[in-house]
Amino acid sequence: MSIRQILSSRVQDAMINAGIPEDCSPAIAESNKPQFGDYQANGAMGAAKRMKTNPRALAEEVLKHLDLTDVADKVEIAGPGFLNIHLKNEWLGSQLDTELSGDSVGIQKAESPDTVVIDYSSPNLAKEMHVGHLRSSIIGDSLVRVLELLGHNVIRQNHVGDWGTQFGMLIAHLEDESAKGTELADTALSDLEAFYRDSKKRFDDEPDFADRARDYVVRLQSGDEHCRTLWQQFIDISLKHSEDIYQKLNVTLSREDVRAESAYNDDLAQIIDDLKAQGLAQESEGALVVFLEELADKKGNPSPIIVQKTGGGFLYATTDLAAAKYRSQTLGADRVLYFIDARQGLHMKQVFTLSHKAGFVSDDISLEHHAFGTMLGEDGKPFKTRSGGTVKLEELLDEAVERAQQQILERNQDLPADESKEIARKVGIGAVKYADLCKTRTNDYIFNWDSMLNFEGNTAPYLQYAYARIQRIFRKAEVSPKDLTGNFNISCKEEKFLALELLKFEETVRQVAEDAYPHVLCSYLFDLASGLMSFYEACPILKDGVDQATRDSRLLLCDAIARTLKQGLDLLGIEVMDRM
Ligand code: ARG
Repeated sequence: MSIRQILSSRVQDAMINAGIPEDCSPAIAESNKPQFGDYQANGAMGAAKRMKTNPRALAEEVLKHLDLTDVADKVEIAGPGFLNIHLKNEWLGSQLDTELSGDSVGIQKAESPDTVVIDYSSPNLAKEMHVGHLRSSIIGDSLVRVLELLGHNVIRQNHVGDWGTQFGMLIAHLEDESAKGTELADTALSDLEAFYRDSKKRFDDEPDFADRARDYVVRLQSGDEHCRTLWQQFIDISLKHSEDIYQKLNVTLSREDVRAESAYNDDLAQIIDDLKAQGLAQESEGALVVFLEELADKKGNPSPIIVQKTGGGFLYATTDLAAAKYRSQTLGADRVLYFIDARQGLHMKQVFTLSHKAGFVSDDISLEHHAFGTMLGEDGKPFKTRSGGTVKLEELLDEAVERAQQQILERNQDLPADESKEIARKVGIGAVKYADLCKTRTNDYIFNWDSMLNFEGNTAPYLQYAYARIQRIFRKAEVSPKDLTGNFNISCKEEKFLALELLKFEETVRQVAEDAYPHVLCSYLFDLASGLMSFYEACPILKDGVDQATRDSRLLLCDAIARTLKQGLDLLGIEVMDRM
């Protein structure tokens, strides 16, 4: 149980005994100044308002019924009726003994796990992955890790785009390249970006080619074998490219998690029939449209969602309706989390509203669009190459590792080459991911190499360094954390700060699971690492004159911090190392 939970239940009991209605919250909060204690219970004020009595007098009444002698040194009333709680060092030590001994980081698995479907990464396979796919891939993967750690049943869904009209020209071009010989075709496909450009150019310049491309889309979607084979060849290569990036990025997606747009092809006609049968879809200028009053604009015009084009083709939205249905009815999802660019906000709202309205999903399912902003360059405009092109994700990641390598070499020349390479990989990739994850995801952010690779400040290298520093202490002490005996003993304010932080890890992780804001976890880890640095300065560990019990307790604290940092970084998909 977290400190907050323990205090909540104690204060709640006291409130009830003081005659306060049961549904009044004890309103436990962390104090923001040490003189106000470590935690505050602010519930008396809300209760007094409801009961129309004096809040300070009510707080006094609560205090009379509140027994925190085992937990707190002091509980005092402040202001209009705050209860300031000063926790006991001994009690914090014993909490650490229960929550953080062995290899526990104090996380309990969910008693009734949810089935959570997570739609993330989901690139369009016609082209190579570019920086625009970074955020969805890493934020989504972080949520996968968080929910799995909490014991939920997580189902990854990589909703890749493999079915649009573009595939007609791509397979027509592939057919021609293959006719020149397999080797040439392979070379052409080794650069998907160029392959796309060439196909597009031919589509625009060569009328015969364009006709064939259009014909191939139709044939592909109706199951023509020749077109299917070419298409499959292209898709395999494009997927392989994405998988290489996932591996570089330490993102846990694999081929089994791909459920592409094409997988819903056979369900689309049924979606349309259902919408028609329910009188939800109507013809409008040849297309089939659903008008949603629920999302009407200020003037009262309903929001239109096109589900079938003139000529019978289906749309992105139709596929998303089929996907929502599959996730609810076949996968049995309690929650579906979509990590998609904020610009698709209206699309998601329409899909969610219509899925419920048409009964494609169960009533109690939670469909959640967790939107994110754009990654910007130094000029505040969307991140581009110098010549204005899209930045390939692969090149960005390679550059990150190279830059990290330079830094590592400057800092430490004694590392063996293969080790420094491995460190550079972890630091470079970690830096890119952390710089993204530590920002409030709904905002745009400016991509900056120097700040993300800085060893000071709220960065991955800072946290990785904090971890490595603890490992160095254990090497110096010549003990393994496993062999430590003794108890946590909290005696100074730096230790107390760390104890309070460590005991907050679980609630931080739970909060991320609920709201899908990984920056909350980043801030937590940064506070923890900063607390560690202050602790080093104030509290000697291995110096002569430090008695055995103090030394052991401080080592225990270091180990608990290292394990928490490691676990926390792992939830962000960032690796640690024993030295750097
Ligand atoms: N492929 C789409 C894109 O690149 C993202 C798909 C997101 N997922 C979804 N269910 N719509 O914009």
